[in-house]
This record gives sequence, C-alpha cells and structure tokens, in this order.
Amino acid sequence: MPLCTCTDAGSITVAEDPACTRPGAAQLVPIDTEPVVGETPIAALRSWLTPTPLFYVRNHYSVPKIDPADWSLSISGAVSNPTEIPYSDLLRLPKKTLPAMLECAGNNRSDLEPGVPGNPFEDGAVSNAIWAGAPLKPFLQQAGFTPDAVEVLFEGADRGEPAPGRPVVPYQRSLPLQVALHPDTLLVYEMNGETLTPDHGFPVRLIVPRWYGMASVKWLTSIRVLQKSFVGFFQTERYVMEDEAGIDQQISWMAVKSFVNWPEHGTSLPVGRPVAVSGMAWSGAGPVRRVDVSLDGGETWQDAHLDESALGYSWQQWHVDWTPPAPGHYTIVARAADDSGNLQPLETRWNRLGYCVNGSKPVCVTAE
Ligand code: MTE
Repeated sequence: MPLCTCTDAGSITVAEDPACTRPGAAQLVPIDTEPVVGETPIAALRSWLTPTPLFYVRNHYSVPKIDPADWSLSISGAVSNPTEIPYSDLLRLPKKTLPAMLECAGNNRSDLEPGVPGNPFEDGAVSNAIWAGAPLKPFLQQAGFTPDAVEVLFEGADRGEPAPGRPVVPYQRSLPLQVALHPDTLLVYEMNGETLTPDHGFPVRLIVPRWYGMASVKWLTSIRVLQKSFVGFFQTERYVMEDEAGIDQQISWMAVKSFVNWPEHGTSLPVGRPVAVSGMAWSGAGPVRRVDVSLDGGETWQDAHLDESALGYSWQQWHVDWTPPAPGHYTIVARAADDSGNLQPLETRWNRLGYCVNGSKPVCVTAE
C-alpha cells in the first residue's frame, strides 16, 4: 500500500457557525441565573442526544474557575497509598466512552400539589449525553483502600452557604464503596465529543450512571475513602425523601419514568392523518421492558414500540402509531415498566422536598 507523502494539505478551517450567534438560537429555559439553573427546552427533549448547550444545568453555587494546569485530583482517607492525579495524566489513560442520561432529582417538582420549595422544574431537568473519561475503579484499587472502607466521598471545587445562614461548605456527596468501584463510574473530561464545559464540571466530573444527577459531582478536586457513612448537607438534609413511616431515606437510583414528547400538550391534530405518538422512558433499576400508552385518558392501553434498544445508560425512545379517528379531545398517557418489575405510578407520591416525581403526565390534544 503506498504511503501518503503529502505535506501541503493545509490545516482544516472551520467556518463560523451562524447558529451559535443567531439571535433566538435555542437555549436553556432559565430557572435561575446565579447560580445557573436551567432546563432543557421541550423541543430538545425529542432528540436522543442532548446537544451540550441544551443539556440542563443544576448548580448549587457559582461555577469555579479552574486552570487545568494547576488541577489535580487527590485520593486520600482510608487508603494505604494516597495519590494525586494531574489532568494530563488522566487524559493519557485508556478512555472509556458511555452514553448516559442524567435526571435531576427535582425534575417535574412543579407538578406537585400542594407546591413545595426548591427549583420549580417542569419537564426539562433531564438530558442524555455521551461522556468520556477514565473509570474510577483502578485509581481506588491503586490507592489501596482498607478493608473497613464503606463509602467514598467526592468533593467539588464550588462552595458556598448551602442554605441561608449555614456555614460555607463545598458541594460534597458520598457513594457506597461498591458503587464507586463499578466499572462504569467514570472520571469524565469529555461530553458529546468535546472538552467538558465549565457549567458541566470542567475539567473533571464524576458520572454515576443510573443515579439521580446529584451523585455526579462536578469540578471534582478530591476523593476521600471513608470508614463510616458521610453526614453532610447534600447527603442527609437534601436529596432525602420521607418513607411511608415518615423517616428520611437518601435517594439514589432514578425511579422508573416516561414522558410523551410528541405531540405537545395542546396540539391540534388533523383527523385521519397518522401521527407517531412518541416519548422517552428510563429507569435506574435496569432496562425499560415495556411502555404502555393510552390514547383515552387511561381507559384502554397498548404496548408502545420500543425503538432501537437504549445504548449504555441512555434513555429508551418509544412510539405508537396513531390516526385520530374523529374530531374531539384526546388524553395521551404513558407509563413505563422496567426489567426489575418496577411500574411507573400514575400519581407521584408527594414529598416535602419534591424529589423523584415520576407520575404519568397526561398530554391533552384535540383532533379536528
Ligand atoms: N456538583 C457540584 N460540584 N456542584 C453542584 O451544584 N449539582 C448536582 C450534580 N453535581 C452539583 C454537582 C446536581 S443536583 C445535578 S442534577 C447534576 O450535577 C447536574 O449536572 P449538569 O448541571 O451537568 O446537568
């Protein structure tokens, strides 16, 4: 085979993308500006992949400015070999690429009645991206965690008062040791094929597939192996949900859930013209097995077609072919079931902080 000897190919020039500067270009639905909190707009919830600028953002504090040349990740605590990992070393290791969705535990909070405090998220605190980085497991193994290790604590570079008048603390969350050691728990430095952006945790964040987003600590600076359970604001005062007995339990896996992303609520459809009623479904407990869809407000149900199987930890696309038969009002409802036997409830169990809202949300349309 002849070897290419070409030397004058020149460098690739990338034309400025007019869509980036175009007024009115799609952007996040703002919830707060400082710290930044924004939802993915409904139109982007129709795509399997969420473009990075439209991936929801949930920051508790201001975005820290980090120079990767000065950044390193420390691993300490109950380990025999405490370690520091510079950014450049992390980038040189074998890279693992994974599609994974994230859902904020407060997604759909504004659907609860009576209302609860917290960011009034509607449907868009959920997105799907392709992440790349290095698995955490070999680092923990190299550091040599002690036999009495139970949890691993992750700390971000962002800090502030977690609630008015409370002492300043960094964003910190812990994981059970076996979750930290899962081969797909990643130290991520790329999102959708590009360097992580500041809002999403540059230079390095954790991605914990299947767990609500709070576990995926951004702007990661330190990892500490613990011999007892971590007690901290974002572990025991937030991201907890009272059980039937009224006792707070820490939340972890995303609850089984689906939503209808087409047609939109309030759409008018032509009678006799086929439409693909479609949506997304997911569960932190395992793959989605089935999505039941009702076109008559829950009177009758049919199995949705599950489109290509969900890759990695991404969401499952589904659809039902439907031709509105006669003029009138139709209420579309979807409910998902996962492989572990969990069924999405028709109504969410109300809780005071507004987490894990996964009740089926009806979409009303008219046919004319
Ligand atoms: N990590 C740090 N350091 N600080 C934060 O405020 N927010 C968490 C998590 N990791 C947070 C964090 C929450 S509540 C969610 S839902 C996800 O990040 C959101 O990730 P995203 O902003 O990239 O969508």
